[in-house]
Amino acid sequence: MRKKIVAANWKMHLSLNEGKELVHDILKGLQGLDEHKLTVIATPFVHLNQTAGQLQGHSHIYLGAQNCHTEAMGAYTGEISAPMLKSVGVTYVIVGHSERREYFKEDNTMLAKKTDIALHNGLQVIFCCGEHLEIRDANTQNAFVEKQIVESLFHLNAEQLQNVVIAYEPIWAIGTGRTASSQQAQDMHVHIRNVISSKYGQVAANNMSILYGGSCKPSNAEELFACPDVDGGLIGGAALKADDFLFIIDAMTKA
Ligand code: 13P
Repeated sequence: MRKKIVAANWKMHLSLNEGKELVHDILKGLQGLDEHKLTVIATPFVHLNQTAGQLQGHSHIYLGAQNCHTEAMGAYTGEISAPMLKSVGVTYVIVGHSERREYFKEDNTMLAKKTDIALHNGLQVIFCCGEHLEIRDANTQNAFVEKQIVESLFHLNAEQLQNVVIAYEPIWAIGTGRTASSQQAQDMHVHIRNVISSKYGQVAANNMSILYGGSCKPSNAEELFACPDVDGGLIGGAALKADDFLFIIDAMTKA
């Protein structure tokens, strides 16, 4: 049985105190999680230690980071490595978010390396993929997303792949208020599952959690999560308000 996951991506938001309050409020209202229905909170690096402390003693809610470097250590001023993340209690790391691809020029080859170092250090990877608006308008999104997955994940063996979650985030839906329709999300998730199946077989594909991200909010979470191949969401803006985030978690646990 594959896991359902609602993950918060705080991006570059919240002071240390604001983060503390938000996690406090989320923990107060959290219900309905179990080993198959999880929550992840991916904070900025400076919050990780504090959030790790707050999550201690709480089940099925995990600490996430938003990025890691390709190398384990070295002279890379300003960077954070996978072993460092592991050492502060991080379980999941987001790799290949479209904002990293666009603003920090991360390409499929670099993301293959980041995936490797994360897995090698015992982290689970939330691997992001998704197309630009022009690609969607040209109806070539399936080939585009397939290339992202093939070039960054297909060198993994089947065992390694078990520690990867895929998040489909159409770029035209991120932070725009314009959500993919549930049919568009479902169609792409089926395509991604088929891509995984073509290399790793149907069982691995069925076990892969595939999350949707892009303006997912309380008003559309239920409809999105009702899609059979949408296994939860990667949430940006709506994860910054405890009530909204808790509502979205509820939608996932009841789907
Ligand atoms: P929004 O939910 O703000 O559109 O962000 C989605 C996202 O990029 C999550 O990683």
